[in-house]
Parts: sequence; C-alpha cells; structure tokens
Amino acid sequence: MSDRAREKIILDCDPGHDDAVAILLAHGSPQIELLAVTTVVGNQTLAKVTRNALSIARVAGISDVPFAAGADRPLVREVEIAPSIHGDTGLDGPDLPEPAITLDDRHAVDLIIDTVMEHESGTVTLVPTGGLTNIALAARKEPRIIERVKKVVLMGGGVHEGNWSPVAEFNIVIDPEAAHIVFSAGWPVVMVGLDATHQALATPEVAQTIAEIDTAPARFVCELLVFFGQTYSDAQGFDSPPVHDPCAVAHVIDPSVVPATPMPIQIETSGMHTLGMTVADLRAPAPVDCLTSAALSIDKDRFWALIYDALERISDPEG
Ligand code: BDR
Ligand code: CA
Repeated sequence: MSDRAREKIILDCDPGHDDAVAILLAHGSPQIELLAVTTVVGNQTLAKVTRNALSIARVAGISDVPFAAGADRPLVREVEIAPSIHGDTGLDGPDLPEPAITLDDRHAVDLIIDTVMEHESGTVTLVPTGGLTNIALAARKEPRIIERVKKVVLMGGGVHEGNWSPVAEFNIVIDPEAAHIVFSAGWPVVMVGLDATHQALATPEVAQTIAEIDTAPARFVCELLVFFGQTYSDAQGFDSPPVHDPCAVAHVIDPSVVPATPMPIQIETSGMHTLGMTVADLRAPAPVDCLTSAALSIDKDRFWALIYDALERISDPEG
C-alpha cells in the first residue's frame, strides 16, 4: 500500500487494556500511519497510563513514533479512574516491560497541535480512546486545527447504552465539558460507542486464535484479556470482555467494518441522573449538514480479522 493511501492518525489514549489493543492494531495495520500517541488521565492516573503507553511501545516494537503526556485532570471535575476494570496499574495482568523510549518533551496538547498543523489539511484523523480533555484543550488552544483535522473518530458514548451510569459511558462522563467542546467544535465526529463496542467481545475462540499467533505481542494481549475478562465479569456481568478502543481504529481502517450513521448528538453536562449522556436525535433523518455520526453495529468477524492480521504483522522481539 502506498503512503498516500495510509490513514494518518493521532491516538490519544489512557492505557488501559483495550487502549493497548488499539495501539497494537494501529501499529500493525498497513492501512494506518501512526503519527503520535498521546496520553490523558482516565483509566488510571496520568503517570500510570503514560508509563503503560511506553511499556506497550516496547512490546509492540514502536521506536519511531512520538509519545507525549497530556492532561492529568478533567477540565472542570475531579479525577475519576477505573481500577475496578483496569486494576491498580491501569494495565494489570501481564508483566509490564521497562520502556525503551522516552517521552517527547512537549505536552500532548502541543504535540497534537504541531502534528496537525505540519501535515496537509484534511489528512490527519484524531482517534481519542480516553476522556476528551486533551482534544478539547487542543481545539481551544489552536482553533485552526478544527478545519485542518480530517475527522475525530472516538471511542465513547452510546446511543442506547451506558456503562458508568445507566445512560453514560466512562470516557464521556469523566469529562463531559470536554466532550461537549469536541462534539460541537465543527469538525466531523464519529462516535464509536457502546452500541458497537459491546458487540466486540473477546470470546474464548477469539482468545484462542490470538494465542495461536504465539508471538510476544500476542501473548501480551492474551494476558491482558485474562485480567480484563475477569474484571468485566465481576464488575459488569459480561461472559466475555468488550474490547472497545480498537473499534475506533477499525472504523478508520475500514468504515464498513464499523459503519456509522449521521445523527445529531448533544452531550449532557448538567443532568441529575443523566450526566455524560450522549443524547442522539433519531426522530428524523439527520440534516444534510450534520457533522456527528454514531456506530450502531460492528462486523465482529472482520473486526477480529483486522486484529489478528495486525498482530501477525508485528515482529516478535523474542522470535
Ligand atoms: C472505555 O472506558 C475505558 O475504561 C476503556 O479503555 C474504554 O476506552 C469504555 O467505556
Ligand atoms: Ca480507553
């Protein structure tokens, strides 16, 4: 595949078991050019998720992509983390290797801005898989990125489902003001939310197929899935864990795997029982100028095939 055809992305994440799989999918996919990885408080503290991101880079053999740390708290609210799902480290399960690369000197917000501004307008896609604090700050600090970004393809929200409350999803509810800024900024936003990601279940068959790839990165994913499977079973009653974050990367690789439907979406920032809800208006076809869309389904066989293919392409440092 020629460089021109590769989709350039900035992955803004809070690793996080499923964020780790998203990084591996982005790195291992020939359709993706990973320009930068930025971190944001979310599943654990900023220090922990940033350390995790650098460890994942070592597992994946990523050495030529800048990594930068971003916001250590939401715009307005107190920090809320998710040890019940991701453990004390934010990436419990496997042994985490010592990082082999160091952080970029820049704040994540500046790395995002610089990267968007130095590439041709309309060529860079932002893929946030954590809270939207960094992305909102970047849009506020340098509003010219809004018209330069191709689109924002985020994991978060849900049209008909919640997980952190009956109606709200974690990435949105931990920083709803940031989500409001991102959803209303004026750039195209694709919401890859729980309606799709709750179908991306790492069943025993999926785990077995990944185990058979039998490389160090594949074994790392298997160990992540064992821990993630247990916490999703204990905390939310799932038989197999939903692997949310790579669904957003999969949409960038091939939108037909995770198709999105245009619909107006507003973020609830003041509801007594509905804080962080992504309120989608399905009463009528979306207006032609609607910039928001949501994924309601996923072709799970083709999704997992993308993951297997990426893992097979990542060279095995122990092989
Ligand atoms: C989202 O919340 C985090 O715990 C996951 O990494 C994912 O991004 C799912 O609600
Ligand atoms: Ca995440």
